[in-house]
Amino acid sequence: MQLTDGRVPTTSDGSLALWFDLRVVGKARIASEVWQFELAGEAGVPLPAFAAGAHVTVITPLGQRRNYSLCGAPQDRSRYVLAIKREARGRGGSVCLVDDVAVGTTLRVSEPRNHFALSPRARSFIFIAGGIGITPIYAMMQQLRASGNEDFSLVYCSRDRASAAFADQLEAEFGGKVHLHHDGGHPAQAYDFWPLLERPTAAHVYCCGPTALMECVADMSGHWPTGAVHFERFGVSYAARAADEPFVARLRQTDVSVQVGAQESLLDALRRAGVAIRSSCESGVCGACKTRLIAGDVAHRDQVLSDAERAQHIMVCVSRASGAGCELVLDL
Ligand code: FES
Repeated sequence: MQLTDGRVPTTSDGSLALWFDLRVVGKARIASEVWQFELAGEAGVPLPAFAAGAHVTVITPLGQRRNYSLCGAPQDRSRYVLAIKREARGRGGSVCLVDDVAVGTTLRVSEPRNHFALSPRARSFIFIAGGIGITPIYAMMQQLRASGNEDFSLVYCSRDRASAAFADQLEAEFGGKVHLHHDGGHPAQAYDFWPLLERPTAAHVYCCGPTALMECVADMSGHWPTGAVHFERFGVSYAARAADEPFVARLRQTDVSVQVGAQESLLDALRRAGVAIRSSCESGVCGACKTRLIAGDVAHRDQVLSDAERAQHIMVCVSRASGAGCELVLDL
């Protein structure tokens, strides 16, 4: 990739992504817990191109790495648009960005990466979004319209109108293609997807939202053709579980032992020990951090490895030893 002003390539954090510095040129609250950020390069240099469904990793002022979908029109390379939900009970990354980043702040941002692109084989599309999961979907709808394809529809679920980012724009731009559903936070009032998914069509389904919504759609679309139903899961980043225990990872090539804390990921522990590991989604869905496993019992939490692959590989961003006292031996 050719470098332009303001872009800084680095692999020092273990990622193979290119990084560059972007200035916040716009910040606005667009829903009850959602802020829109507009990021631009220096002197109007066009930003790297992206296709709808792409995301970038942002380094927060506190040094955390967070992935956010690009929700602006892909044909507009003058800026990147992010919508960030302030997760008050999260791990602090979104709170830091919303509370501490203002117009004029410079943020280090990765080049766009895409695990959720529109299939070139698809001609019609059913979009299903829940909450902040609307972000990649909005970019998809803008990209399709720009290409002249109007064969799509959207079901957008949220607690209420106030929490639904882009609700006004979606209705204004896409009219009858958009169905907003508000459940008031009551599971009993959740949208019934069965009438939509009961009979498979030639459309491709793209779904992004909370885990419960994606599991519901997955359950109701199991009879659709293979490869026709797509999910974006990267927003569900690594989360330690209460029962997780510390363990040791031994690196065979260097004979170094790395202590992994109960509340940290194996990937974070390896980086802390100075081991360069390639990563992208950091949520077990892209396959970038696939590492050869020599020995040890693994609690696999990824969504990419087959059962056969799991005997010899581990996705270090989400998976870990199956319990205290277990040692994993990695081909690192
Ligand atoms: S970084 Fe994507 S699966 Fe680990």
